[in-house]
Amino acid sequence: MNEVIELLKSHTSIRKFNDTKITDEQVHHIIDSAMRGATAGNMMSYSIIKVSSKETLSKLAKSCDNQPFIEGADLALLFVVDNYKWHSFFEQRNIAEVFPDYKGPSISDFMLGVQDGMIAAQNAVMAAESLGLGTCYIGDIMENYEYHKELFNLPQNTMPLTLVVMGNYDTKPQIRERFDKSCVVFDEVYPEISEGFINNMFSKEEFKDSDFAVKFYKRKIDAPFFKEMLRSIKKYIKEWD
Ligand SMILES: Cc1cc2nc3c(=O)[nH]c(=O)nc-3n(C[C@H](O)[C@H](O)[C@H](O)COP(=O)(O)O)c2cc1C
Repeated sequence: MNEVIELLKSHTSIRKFNDTKITDEQVHHIIDSAMRGATAGNMMSYSIIKVSSKETLSKLAKSCDNQPFIEGADLALLFVVDNYKWHSFFEQRNIAEVFPDYKGPSISDFMLGVQDGMIAAQNAVMAAESLGLGTCYIGDIMENYEYHKELFNLPQNTMPLTLVVMGNYDTKPQIRERFDKSCVVFDEVYPEISEGFINNMFSKEEFKDSDFAVKFYKRKIDAPFFKEMLRSIKKYIKEWD
């Protein structure tokens, strides 16, 4: 096993940071690594907003479904799906005069922005981890459309995709188990998913409680944060209609 594989296989999210600051050099390497990720058509349909002000981190700790540990991070990187810059470029070059059908960014542009943005974010996460820093994704940044739009001054055809909080830390939590490989990786085609397959997938100790499905559904899918996420994402996506 080489060092990169070892790093990838030892990932855990970190939610408790100490006071040691991330250096400018570390930030530089993290951002450069993020930007080196593969990107559809080399268009880089995303933007990265660096957030280190305690005031904004404190606001995010509340607006991202009340997760106080966000405030304890030294730095947060906001990855934004961004079709606005290319759209502005096309408009400035009067592209509609040559292509009258041009209506602005489409849902395909959006999806490529999502993919570009997540690749960049994961490169940033692994770069940070390779430098000994801890990170945690915050998916709740997709909530509160109106609030986050204003907080970050986001124009049309941009959407906060994910927030990665990071900092130095003292203790690393235990690695969290994943589903068994046989439930995730298939040969050549998608298999028939039998009742037995599902039973096998959820046979681990953590799923043993007979009420697990109900409790999980209640805690995640039926929770107010999840409903807010859906409302907010629908509003963002309208900008690509
Ligand atoms: C898209 C995405 C969104 C996430 N959002 C949050 C979040 O809002 N808060 C949080 O504490 N962890 C969040 N996480 C971290 C996951 O909870 C974590 O990756 C998962 O429990 C597995 O743990 P591990 O990363 O330590 O292996 C998110 C992870 C991903 C990939």
